[in-house]
Amino acid sequence: MDRIRIRGGNKLNGVINISGAKNAALPLMIIPMLTADTVTLHNVPRLADVRQLQRILQNHGVDIMTAGKRAGAAENAGETLKISAKSIVDTTAPYELVSKMRASFWVLGPLMGRMGEAKVSLPGGCAIGTRPVDLLLLAMEKLGAEMVIEQGYVIAKAKKGLKGGHIFFPKVSVGATHVALMAAVLAHGDTTIENAATEPEITDVAECLVKMGAKIEGIGTRNLNITGVTSLHGAEHTVVADRIETGTYAMLAGMAGGDVTLRGARADTLADVILTLQRAGLEITTNNEGMRVKRNGSGILPVDVTTDPYPGFPTDLQAQFMGLMTMAKGKSHIRETIFENRFMHVQELARFGADIRVNGNMAEVHGVQKLTGADVMATDLRASVSLVIAALAAEGETMLHRVYHLDRGFEDLEGKLSAVGADVTRISGA
Ligand code: UD1
Repeated sequence: MDRIRIRGGNKLNGVINISGAKNAALPLMIIPMLTADTVTLHNVPRLADVRQLQRILQNHGVDIMTAGKRAGAAENAGETLKISAKSIVDTTAPYELVSKMRASFWVLGPLMGRMGEAKVSLPGGCAIGTRPVDLLLLAMEKLGAEMVIEQGYVIAKAKKGLKGGHIFFPKVSVGATHVALMAAVLAHGDTTIENAATEPEITDVAECLVKMGAKIEGIGTRNLNITGVTSLHGAEHTVVADRIETGTYAMLAGMAGGDVTLRGARADTLADVILTLQRAGLEITTNNEGMRVKRNGSGILPVDVTTDPYPGFPTDLQAQFMGLMTMAKGKSHIRETIFENRFMHVQELARFGADIRVNGNMAEVHGVQKLTGADVMATDLRASVSLVIAALAAEGETMLHRVYHLDRGFEDLEGKLSAVGADVTRISGA
């Protein structure tokens, strides 16, 4: 198993290229299942989760070809995938595959939309709370699917195809909104989705669906109106920049100090995060290239944060923000409202000497003047990078174990950080 060694103390200066968003790329790779034509996706990040989803889709008979570099493409561009689901050869998504990545459960939507049947294993995924799928199933039921759960599988059928319906989500869910959209675009008749998630990744997927011929109104709002069509066609789409990666590098730069440009960043998808980081004393400006983040000399100020669905502060940046607050000049409060049990990084941050007290879904972070390097363990995708944030400012050496969590969601983290002056090395092997 690979490890990452970090020696703290270096400032970060230079340019970091922001990759395509993992959370957009995954559903964008799934929606080509809705058509027999080829969908071409540009700027797909090189991530373990993307590779895993490729395997899962291939199991359904989806062909995925990685195209060579395009003429004129930016040097930082991700991969181009040509995805073609000429025929769906298998409507079962088995436990061995779905349990490795939660988002693969979302194939339920297109399988039902195109084939009217699906057998999908209940998911596993990150250990950040129970993460049920009741809302995803509610959406399918409202679209006329008949479902049973047997031996850990959801078995769904709609003999005459799905039909449009009214879906009201009592709670905002990214996954449920994706699945509802994917299923409704090919249903007979009209569908309304009330209290939909508005995350930029949903917008990206909806825009690609429209390019494929889907009829969707209200994109980017809490209410989506879909008019079902009989078929979709091929399209070409570029994955939106990763706002979570962007926010993470902004915090890494804020913690280490220095001046970095986050090339390709979409500041418009990070308004609340930018405001929060500015309050914490970071200088953030936007320009044609992306976003520039500076912290020179001044310390980090404590700021209270509550996670919320978009456009609120993202839960996927909560651990990183806590990492930043460990060295703030005073006390901050971080409240997690999306997932239970998403404070697993607290005990690892404590190994650097951080002072964090947890009470239910609230963490009180008492800023300390000094962190010291330690052996620490990545526990989940976002938590793992909060440890890198602490390590960059810590005195001495940190060894980060179980970095496969990082590889699921951060493309070439050590390469990107080394290029701006951090002392970060991957150590391959057992
Ligand atoms: C997605 C993101 C993940 C992010 C999360 C919240 C991807 C691949 N993953 O996950 O990185 O942290 O959004 O922004 O895009 N819930 C239910 N019932 C359901 C579904 C969800 O109660 O059927 C609850 C969850 O337990 C959680 C909340 O709703 O408390 C939000 O979860 P959801 O938005 O669905 O997260 P994911 O789509 O799994």
